[in-house]
Amino acid sequence: MSNNRCCDRAWVLGMLAVMSLASWTGFAADPPKGARIAYAFKACDAVGKATAEENLMMAYQNELNAQLQYAAYARKAEREGYMSAAIEFWVTSSGEGGHARTIAKEIKRQGGKPKSGISIPVVKSTKENLQMAIKKEADEAEKTWADSLHSAQEAVHDTTNYDGFDISTQCPASVKAHPSVQVFLMLKTVDASYAKHFTDCLKALEDGKDAPEYFLEPGGLKIRMDGIKLLKQYGLD
Ligand SMILES: [Fe+2]
Ligand SMILES: [Fe+2]
Repeated sequence: MSNNRCCDRAWVLGMLAVMSLASWTGFAADPPKGARIAYAFKACDAVGKATAEENLMMAYQNELNAQLQYAAYARKAEREGYMSAAIEFWVTSSGEGGHARTIAKEIKRQGGKPKSGISIPVVKSTKENLQMAIKKEADEAEKTWADSLHSAQEAVHDTTNYDGFDISTQCPASVKAHPSVQVFLMLKTVDASYAKHFTDCLKALEDGKDAPEYFLEPGGLKIRMDGIKLLKQYGLD
């Protein structure tokens, strides 16, 4: 009887030691929610970085080229007397430049170096340029950025065995907050809105409703001046 009590006591002490060791090492069965999410985020970030890098680099080059392409289309629209289309192209050119800067920031955050590869855009008539722009932005939103977003989300999700621990249930919070996921989500959403604006613009042009004169606010004037500066840099103006 006394032997049993002795063994019972040893067993309880042993269990207490195991439990305190588990909590000291941070691998207790149920650590606080904040700690789980922080750990999951760290793991997700490591996995997300490895897989999103290539897509981010491709996105950076694409958006830089789009900035130059739409500035060239804006200038062409001015020369053809389509001022609404010109404004739409200037504003979108500036927006694509902003996208390129956001992507560059994320590439740098991951320790990479953004590489630019500019190709000189082919400029046709404003109507054709609008058709090309609609297709480009719609394809990007529905395919390119949607696929990159999906693979960034998948990469971040694929952490069930990270470091030997199953953190998959903590990942949804991290997936949403992961910077690469955020970048592709932004590109997908905003480029879809560009496709819609270009579609409206083409319709106005075809209906003979494109404005013959500029109505540019100071912000618009600055965007136009920056765009012309960019074109000059590549000998396009
Ligand atoms: Fe974009
Ligand atoms: Fe775009």
